[in-house]
Amino acid sequence: TDPLRLGIAGLGTVGMGVVGIVQRQADLLAARAGRPIVITAVSARSQRDRGLDLSSYAWEDDPVALANRPDVDVVIEVMGGHDGPAKALSEAALAAGKDLVSANKALLAIHGQALAEAAEAQGRVIRFEAAVAGGIPVVKSLMEGLAGNGITRVLGVMNGSCNYILTRMEDAGLSYAEVFAEADALGYLEADPELDVGGIDAGHKLALLAAVAFGTQVDFAGVVLEGIGSVTIEDIRQAADMGYRIKLLGVAQMTGRGLEQRMQPCLVPAGSPLAQLPGGTNMVVLEGDAVGQIVLRGPGAGAGPTASAVMADVMDLARGTRYPTFGQPAASLRRARAATAAIP
Ligand code: HSE
Repeated sequence: TDPLRLGIAGLGTVGMGVVGIVQRQADLLAARAGRPIVITAVSARSQRDRGLDLSSYAWEDDPVALANRPDVDVVIEVMGGHDGPAKALSEAALAAGKDLVSANKALLAIHGQALAEAAEAQGRVIRFEAAVAGGIPVVKSLMEGLAGNGITRVLGVMNGSCNYILTRMEDAGLSYAEVFAEADALGYLEADPELDVGGIDAGHKLALLAAVAFGTQVDFAGVVLEGIGSVTIEDIRQAADMGYRIKLLGVAQMTGRGLEQRMQPCLVPAGSPLAQLPGGTNMVVLEGDAVGQIVLRGPGAGAGPTASAVMADVMDLARGTRYPTFGQPAASLRRARAATAAIP
């Protein structure tokens, strides 16, 4: 049978994680997909030694050229950035009639509806498991495992860096500024740390989950966002005295007034699973009208976990699982009326 041919744009941590899995697990992937999964072309900013043998893959300096190659069936976008090359590549891939696997939460949270429409116009799909909560298969849980449920609520801790900072402040009794500097030095923060501590990265993820959960157009602008920058050690101590811990918690639910999406520092009961979540970890709670509550917990970032999520999408496509990008046709996604905007 025909192999599924991948083109990978971006050879950073995640891209090389994907290369590693494809090389290491070739037999397992082929057995499960019923066809070989191969990489035919790669693209990145510079050609240098990245520790794995890339010599059998075609090299493209320009990611758009990668998207247009006839020997690429699926384009994997792991470059990042919500505009510029990542957007150009994603649009080019869909226009060229390729399926797109993306880890790019910012791009999809902002341009998801337009991209989903572009995909459908070509009979293609976008898969973005890696864009939400890293290695946790939360998008697939909503789209596949919980497909028979009306989803009533989605909530969770979706940024490991913020969770690290808040946990460390509490455990070590250090100030926000001290722990921020420490996390930055350890490489735990995005190149633009405001994406993490401003709640933006987590807000992107929440907006994507809400779209899938509630059948609405992705509405990042409708997320009420508050970062962790103003959380003080006194806040954390007072919360602890009352039996609570502070977490950057995202909640999305459909209310009578419309879609409510919030990403804010919240008090959670100290004994609850959310409160006990360790530093770099994510936890997502999904509520369905038939199933009740499902809790998923795991690594929200890193090469292995994020590549694991990318490969889950690749395997879906290799097996021919082709539901629409946000779970239903893009034209049928309702415009989300933001309930939260009206609340003072
Ligand atoms: N800095 C992010 C996090 C990476 O810690 O969750 C994944 O978006």
